[in-house]
Amino acid sequence: MKLKDKVALVTGGSRGIGRGVALALAREGASLVACARSLNEAHLVAEEAKGLGVDAIAVKADVGHPDEVAALIQACLDRFDRLDILVNNAGITKDTLLVRMKDEDWEQVLAVNLSGAFYCIRAALKPMLKQRSGRIINITSVVGVMGNVGQANYVASKAGLIGLTKAAAREVASRGITVNAIAPGFIATDMTGSLHEDLRLSILARIPLGRFGTPEDVAACVCFLSSEEAGYITGQVIHINGGMWM
Ligand SMILES: NC(=O)c1ccc[n+]([C@@H]2O[C@H](COP(=O)([O-])OP(=O)(O)OC[C@H]3O[C@@H](n4cnc5c(N)ncnc54)[C@H](O)[C@@H]3O)[C@@H](O)[C@H]2O)c1
Repeated sequence: MKLKDKVALVTGGSRGIGRGVALALAREGASLVACARSLNEAHLVAEEAKGLGVDAIAVKADVGHPDEVAALIQACLDRFDRLDILVNNAGITKDTLLVRMKDEDWEQVLAVNLSGAFYCIRAALKPMLKQRSGRIINITSVVGVMGNVGQANYVASKAGLIGLTKAAAREVASRGITVNAIAPGFIATDMTGSLHEDLRLSILARIPLGRFGTPEDVAACVCFLSSEEAGYITGQVIHINGGMWM
């Protein structure tokens, strides 16, 4: 129960990595705000967290809209009166080759993956600065440092998130707030589930540890970065990819 008395907010907390992270934080004793675009799905995760003995609420919000993000942070403060851990996990892909990429494919991915994290950080900093403590963890991707064919919009958003992490880390370090990024490799979720079997096998062949990652692999690192023990780690990108990129 490393995170007892802490309040955690996870965006995209309804399924995949976000769900795994939300439940792992709850297992460590943190109260939970599970945010997603679907209230029903977020509600199921909040109920599961309550089953683990913590208080939890579900909030419907699209992180691409600053007014919805402001309402999300307010809902957290109304219920718990503080915010200790923000996990910017919500993310989307709209993959296609550059020459075929429509303006809206570019804009939508940047709006959710990068602007969404910015809106959440800006709003979360108000209570965290007042508390003079906080943990912000941004879920980027290995492709944000490697690049990838057919993902120019996604790669740009994830590389941008690494820059945002470092800028924010420097800006708020003196106030006891750490900001780090986690860069997963290939994690088995809905996002990767639709990839063609041949592509999945060729990715698997490039993973020295010989398996795809799980949401729990990522969640364990989020719990550590959220803990007191990680208090001297800020502005870092932690890679969780089975050795696929080193
Ligand atoms: N799965 C992987 O292999 C992998 C690898 C590297 C990074 N990531 C990143 O991890 C994060 C989670 O990925 P996942 O595989 O669990 O994806 P997923 O598609 O299974 O889940 C995405 C979650 O984000 C939420 N979401 C999407 N758009 C949103 C919005 N506008 N506002 C609020 N919530 C929104 C969805 O409701 C869902 O809960 C993403 O940022 C993704 O880019 C995933």
